[in-house]
Amino acid sequence: VTMRLPSESEEPASAEVVQVLRHAARLARGAGRAEIEVADLANALAELLPAPAARAPVARVTPYRDGPLLLRGAFELTDQDGNAIPTRRTTVALCRCGRSQLRPFCDGTHKLTGFQADSAAERPPARACD
Ligand code: FES
Repeated sequence: VTMRLPSESEEPASAEVVQVLRHAARLARGAGRAEIEVADLANALAELLPAPAARAPVARVTPYRDGPLLLRGAFELTDQDGNAIPTRRTTVALCRCGRSQLRPFCDGTHKLTGFQADSAAERPPARACD
């Protein structure tokens, strides 16, 4: 698969696409070719995209069986108005039983109340007429 090299005067579809195509064109020219190959595009993308560690941080939310939601990673906790809910931790337990005295955080009350919930996603019951 080959592509025609973009000229410097062509109207860009988007700045990022043009940047990738131009970098791929430089790689092709550097290899002595007049056409871009798929490998040039892949190499251009690999060189222009940020490294995985530099990409947006990821937070993980895990519902614990009969317990809270554990939130781990890089997150920002806010109320519905966008006000920060301060926490210095990178892992917090969020109440999902509704009985905590420290909401939105879990205070362990779910154990006293016998809260029950699966860790996996719940599915709605099948309807009788289906
Ligand atoms: S989940 Fe722990 S107090 Fe609600």
